[in-house]
Parts: sequence; structure tokens; C-alpha cells
Amino acid sequence: MRERLEQLRAEGLEALSRADSEDELREIEVRFLGRNGALTHLLKDLGGLSPEERPEMGKLANEVKAEIAASLESLRLNLKEQAYSLEISGSGFDGSLPGPSGPRGGVHPLTQVLWDLEDLASRMGFAVVDGPEVETEENNFDALNISVDHPARESHDTIWVKGDSQSGGGLCLRTHTSCVQVRALKEHGAPLRVVAPGRVFRQETQDATHDHTFHQMEGLVVDRGVGVPHMLHAMEALLAGLFGRPLETRLRPGYFPFVEPGFELDARCPFCDEGCRICSRTGWIELMPGGLVHPKVLDACGVDSNVFSGYAFGLGLSRVAMLRYGIDDIRWMFSGDLRFLEQFRL
Ligand code: DAH
Repeated sequence: MRERLEQLRAEGLEALSRADSEDELREIEVRFLGRNGALTHLLKDLGGLSPEERPEMGKLANEVKAEIAASLESLRLNLKEQAYSLEISGSGFDGSLPGPSGPRGGVHPLTQVLWDLEDLASRMGFAVVDGPEVETEENNFDALNISVDHPARESHDTIWVKGDSQSGGGLCLRTHTSCVQVRALKEHGAPLRVVAPGRVFRQETQDATHDHTFHQMEGLVVDRGVGVPHMLHAMEALLAGLFGRPLETRLRPGYFPFVEPGFELDARCPFCDEGCRICSRTGWIELMPGGLVHPKVLDACGVDSNVFSGYAFGLGLSRVAMLRYGIDDIRWMFSGDLRFLEQFRL
């Protein structure tokens, strides 16, 4: 029995080694393993063996069967792979090429403006700094010389997190990025040259140019002998860099408690010739307020105002994005509307 099994194993494997088609494999499978195959026949003779021999021969028979079956399976797989390679080699299919890519996204217009501004400001020698969106009343108002009775503190302008405009020592969602001036000065002292971009919040009635959440970038330079010409140069250089050309601007006085003197730098409205709802029918858009840092601010931040002076400016990023891309309503920015966003695909 053992010899017959061994012979069957050898014959089976030998037949398989010569097979090179699926048909031949099937024929060998039937011949050796099938219901009327050689192995099945042999197994019928097991019953005639002695009880001692039977288990041993049974085990060997199973081994032979498993070996032939495994070899059959692996040959079948090889044949399939060969057939597949042959098929794709004739079809011009190149498996080394990258697959089709998914739909491409874009960069939000505000992010594009932010990236450009950070890049420009860094090249102009400004460090980019940051501050929290929940700010102390001290940093958002007091240290900036915005007195307790100033209307900006009113709860119809400010979103209070703790306390309110009357209590003192409260916490609010920062209403501007000017509070980062205070943080930066307190932390680093003078001389200092920083920009601070970020999100700010106000209780606004929303319209084409006002939203409750918007983005600003603050600029602050404190050093010896800093004056208005330095401020103007920096503001105009930033705007020219952002728009790729010098803008038509005008400078007029403006009041902000934390600067003295204070200014408003306006840009010519690109949407109209004689006035539209974007420019409140003036033909000009308020773009960059600024001024010389009030000595009280320097002193509140521990910087000697007899030695140092400085300038500060603010810039509304949404305004810049609106001008740069011709967006006629600020509410598009956070609308999540794909028709708007898809225009900024990369
Ligand atoms: N913080 C002001 C605002 O949000 C903008 C501003 C005005 C910033 C004058 C300044 C500045 O740095 O000098 O309305």
C-alpha cells in the first residue's frame, strides 16, 4: 500500500510539472483526486488492511492528496496571472501610471490673503505673532486706552464671555486684533516689529460689508524715532504687495483711542465710479486704519514712552479679499456655498 501511494504521489507531481493549461490541470485533478480517480480507488482498499496499518496508511493517503491538491492550486494561480499579464500587455495598459485623482479642492480666499500677508510682512522684517480669541477686558480695552464709558465696550458691540461693559475685569471675544499689540509689548518689550493676524468678533447687524466674525491683521512697530512717514511707507508697501501694484489711496484723520494722531487709509472702490453699496456711495473703501501708538498704551505695556515711539495699523482681511477678487458681499465668505468656493480652486 505504501509503495502504491508513493508511486501515485510521484506520478501526480510529475504529471503536474508537465501541465501548462487549465484543461490539463482539470484532467489531472479528475485522474488523481476525482471520485473515480486513482487515489479514491486506493483508499477503498484501506478497509482490507490490518487495524495497525490502517491509520498510518490513512494518514499517508491524506498527505498525498493534500500535496497534489496544493500543487494544483498554485499552478492554477500561476496560469491565471500569466493570462492576465498577457491580456494587459496587449491592451496598452500601464500599471506604473498613477490612478485617476479625486476632485481638487481650493484655498479659501481669506486664507490666500492671509498667506500672502504673512509672506509680505515677514519679508518686510515683521515677526508674525498670535493671541487668544477670548481676551481679557484689560487687553482688549483698558490697556488700549479705551475707557470704561467708551461705546465700543457696549454689549451691542462686544460679545461678553464673563462680566459685561460695566463690571470691569471681564472676558470677551476679542473685538479686534489690537489687543495682540498689548500682549506682544508686555511679553517682548521694545524695540518690536510684529504683525498679528486673526479672527475677531462683534455683535453686528449683518449686511454686505459686516459680519459677526471676520479677520484682521494688526501691525505694530515700536522703536526709537518712529513717525508717520514710516507708518505710511509700511502700509502702502503692504497694499502694493497684496494687489501687485500701488493702489490709489487717500489718507484722512481718524479717531482711535490707542493712537495719536490717528488716520484712515482708504482705497479707491474697484466696484464703481461714483458710489455703490460696497463703498457706502463714497467711491472709497476704508481699508487700513492706523496711527502713532498712544503714549498711554506704551506706558500701560511697560514701555517708556519718553524713549520709544511707534506706529500701529489694522487691516481687514475680508475687505482685502473682497477687493482683490471682486466679491460683492462679505457673507459669501462663510456661506459654505460651493458655487462661491469652487471659484478658488487651485
Ligand atoms: N482695532 C481697530 C478696529 O478694529 C482698527 C485699528 C485702528 C487698528 C487703528 C490699529 C489702529 O492698529 O492704529 O476697528
